[in-house]
Amino acid sequence: MNSLAKDSTAAAKRTGLLSNQIIINGGKPLRGRINVRGAKNLATKAMVAALLADTPSVLKDVPAISDVRVVTGMLEAYGVTVTETGDGELTLDPGNVLKAHFAKIDALAGSSRIPILFCGPLLHRLGEALIPDLGGCRIGDRPIDFHLDALRAFGAVVDKSYEGIRLTAPDGLHGADIDLPYPSVGATEQVLLTAVLARGVTELKGAAIEPEIMDLIAILQKMGAIINVEPDRVIFIEGVEKLSGYNHRALFDRNEAASWASAALATGGDIFVEGAKQQELMTFLNIFRKVGGAFDIAEDGIRFWHPGGILKPVVIETDVHPGFMTDWQQPLIVALTQAEGRSVVHETVYENRLGFTSALIEMGANIDVFEEGLESISRRVPRRPLEQAAVIIGPTPLHGADVEIPDLRGGFSHLIAALTAEGQSTVSNIGIIARGYEHFTDKLQSLGADFVYEG
Ligand code: EPU
Repeated sequence: MNSLAKDSTAAAKRTGLLSNQIIINGGKPLRGRINVRGAKNLATKAMVAALLADTPSVLKDVPAISDVRVVTGMLEAYGVTVTETGDGELTLDPGNVLKAHFAKIDALAGSSRIPILFCGPLLHRLGEALIPDLGGCRIGDRPIDFHLDALRAFGAVVDKSYEGIRLTAPDGLHGADIDLPYPSVGATEQVLLTAVLARGVTELKGAAIEPEIMDLIAILQKMGAIINVEPDRVIFIEGVEKLSGYNHRALFDRNEAASWASAALATGGDIFVEGAKQQELMTFLNIFRKVGGAFDIAEDGIRFWHPGGILKPVVIETDVHPGFMTDWQQPLIVALTQAEGRSVVHETVYENRLGFTSALIEMGANIDVFEEGLESISRRVPRRPLEQAAVIIGPTPLHGADVEIPDLRGGFSHLIAALTAEGQSTVSNIGIIARGYEHFTDKLQSLGADFVYEG
């Protein structure tokens, strides 16, 4: 079994999926109502923040996804007691933080990117941190240089050992001036989680300002932190002596909401996404409307549907917030295979996030991927040799195929493509989807999808 299949099987087990493979009979519109809960990319970081406190934290709307299980395992390995105190509610008690056994964290860290964010909190709590090899989606190199440079600026000493990366802070951590070469989401979170308890003031330039980051800042403020978000991606953090636990409802998962919206459009369906909100989805909603999708914003969610007629092509360039998110392009590309004319999707954040299109081509889509990207659009992340652009010409009917899921968002797109396609598709490695989409097979069932578990 290759490492992707292993990760997928483990994620399927962690989330109680009945199997790692399904057979889909496509060609039927998805219709109905589903809900989205807290964002994977906030809830997991909020859980790490609980390590900084001296009293328990309560996090609400935590999704039942594999990445949450992985972070729960990591926290438990460090002595944090994580208790389910309600439906989607976790109480995290950091009263007894201790060094973890390497084998325990090594077994978990390979499945996610989040462990890198344990560095600052562990340095504060234990004076050292050990980060084994990281996992997460295989969507490019995904280096951690911004993280390590920032930690060094706070006074951490970074050593590579055979087990992974060992960090120590012989003189404690102090405030720092940090200028990120790119507004990295993870590196911004790293700085926030470290600076809040560091001695003195930290000035962060070039910060990411995604809604999930703003929600993390709100959580840290509840805990007692002093954080000022200034214009032009500058954040000031005044270190404090101690932080207490928080009580917080996680921001909804806008990536999941955008995925279901795209599923409604691609399959010619109609889905009410309970819990979705307009503010955090504005850029997506504009593109959805330009493609020809309809939406209606209600107090408790957003209804997305295909209003009939012809879908229109678009040109999209992925970007940091408030631009069009890299996580939204994959599901939308499936809908674009049904638009009349030529669409262009330029991926500028990751260098390997269009690989999933090969399965769509096998299903009948007309997509050309340009490895070098398009000359007219510049690179966002410095020192990256590759960018990619996909040119999609539609409409093309899709037909069933056997597809193996490569990563989280690409994998959800394969699901949508199989549901859009006429005929039967076998989709394997669906456990990867369970990393970030809660109860997705139950939701598919309630939307009228025709599928069976296999194996
Ligand atoms: N980068 C570096 N060096 C670093 C850190 C990042 O070169 O030290 C590069 C990355 O390789 C990438 C770019 O900077 O090319 C953007 O990375 P960023 O740090 O912003 O992303 P991340 O924190 O690793 C989070 C989400 C991703 C989401 C991106 C962009 C989590 C756990 N992951 O990743 O979500 O695509 O931000 O918004 O929050 C997903 O949910 O499927 C997913 C991949």
